Amino acid sequence: MTTTLDPRELSAARRVMWTYLITGFAIFALMILIGFSMRMEQAGWIAYAPQTFYSLMTLHGIGMITAVAVASMGELWYLMRLETVLDERLAYWAWGFIVAGAIAVVISVLAGQFGAAWTFLYPLPFVGTWWPSWATGFYLIGVALVTIGWMMWCTQMLGCVLSRYGGFRGALGWDYVFHRRAFEQSGRTPPPPQAYAALVAAVDGVLTGTIGMIIGVALIVHWISPSVVIDPLWAKNLTYFFGHAFANLTIYMAVAGVYVGMPRYADREYHTSVALAVAWWGTLVFVAIAYFHHLYMDFVQIRALQYIGEAASYLSSIPTALVTVYGSLMLVYRSRMRWSLGSLFMFGGLVGWIVGGFGAVLDATIPINSDLHNTLWVPAHFHTYLLEGVVLFVLGWTFMMLEERSGSISSAAVRWLVGLGFFGGGGLFLLGFYIAGAEGVPRRYAVQPAPGPELSGLASVGVIILLIALVIVLVEAIRLAAIARRRTA
Ligand code: HEM
Repeated sequence: MTTTLDPRELSAARRVMWTYLITGFAIFALMILIGFSMRMEQAGWIAYAPQTFYSLMTLHGIGMITAVAVASMGELWYLMRLETVLDERLAYWAWGFIVAGAIAVVISVLAGQFGAAWTFLYPLPFVGTWWPSWATGFYLIGVALVTIGWMMWCTQMLGCVLSRYGGFRGALGWDYVFHRRAFEQSGRTPPPPQAYAALVAAVDGVLTGTIGMIIGVALIVHWISPSVVIDPLWAKNLTYFFGHAFANLTIYMAVAGVYVGMPRYADREYHTSVALAVAWWGTLVFVAIAYFHHLYMDFVQIRALQYIGEAASYLSSIPTALVTVYGSLMLVYRSRMRWSLGSLFMFGGLVGWIVGGFGAVLDATIPINSDLHNTLWVPAHFHTYLLEGVVLFVLGWTFMMLEERSGSISSAAVRWLVGLGFFGGGGLFLLGFYIAGAEGVPRRYAVQPAPGPELSGLASVGVIILLIALVIVLVEAIRLAAIARRRTA
């Protein structure tokens, strides 16, 4: 990768990136085992108390979202460090807060059995609890620490894009879009595609973090002093603003690696276009307001907001489908694409994003949502674009780094095995959720009505195949890293 950084700066930047990536992968590995155990429990292969199921479900949900967030943050931080100066110490502080928060959450769930689901929707953390009050406090404080780390990272990114590209006007590419001739004649160039991901993550991230802290502090106050009453509709709006945007931004951060990686594999150039800039302006707005679709069932919600939620959900798919995915397909079309694990992961991630996105837009359609709401259709679509989208983007980026540094790629046999594991095994796992959702099996049930258990069994077989592929991926990553180390030495 071409860079103006000297070797010392480059290795410091890489250290930050690997710290984040490895942390994300480590949490992911633990959480996937918990996910597997939940699916086996729903299938009746193993048995534990429903309370244990709900506690593990809470840990799996918050753990997975944090895992992909941390990994994507490391990737994007590194990409922006190649653009301009960023203080590593701030990145480590942000990482430290996130890790401290994650530890508090783990203690709250494993020692305290907190189990109000990762969305901690008021008043669930406080009523009908089987866990002690301290566990609620640990969980809320843990999430607040993660949010503080996230805000520190977002603020650093915001400072980075604003100073590097000339304020909001420059970072958005305003003059490039509206005064293109004068802009180009002055010899200026718009920010690169990955900078748009950084801008959107930073702006929406600061907004998300602020809203998250407001509801978080309100819940902590209620925990300390239960006489302070919270309005449930207000709480739900703030909680889902935070949760929806935070989870979504993980994809938009990780896709920055695809913007940089795919052209390298396809041996083509990829620059910012007017369409790309405008698409990211759309994403900036839609990510923030699409969350209203989580409140369709809340009859007290202002009606206009329901329509805004539906419109924003539909509109948010346009930048993704038309610009990022179509643009990447055009890069591959008739190119001398080099297929390796890195490029396969990136390409597969785009497919997963689109497929899961379709499922999500269907669910965000009000008449369809009346049937699919709180069924397993919901985990079906979000597992598709998280597991087969953002996780693949991050793996793609990681393997691109390893392949470049080792000068080596995995054999065709390994690529086939991994592909089969991810798309065969992963597909079977997801299909279990989709069919059960379409059949009306509710989500978040430790003991499911038929045909839930049968489909959970089928899905568990898919998870086993996927886990085998993941072990192969781990072995390959270690092998390539060892070659890279030998080469550097
Ligand atoms: C093969 C890997 C995985 C397995 C076996 C798995 C399994 C599960 C299961 C069984 C549930 C509960 C579904 C229900 O009945 O409502 C669940 C929920 C969830 N999963 Fe996964 N999962 C996997 C990967 C992921 C990934 C990669 C992510 C995100 C990056 C993720 C995020 C979540 C979230 C946010 C929830 C919702 C938790 C809640 O309702 O509070 N999962 N998962």
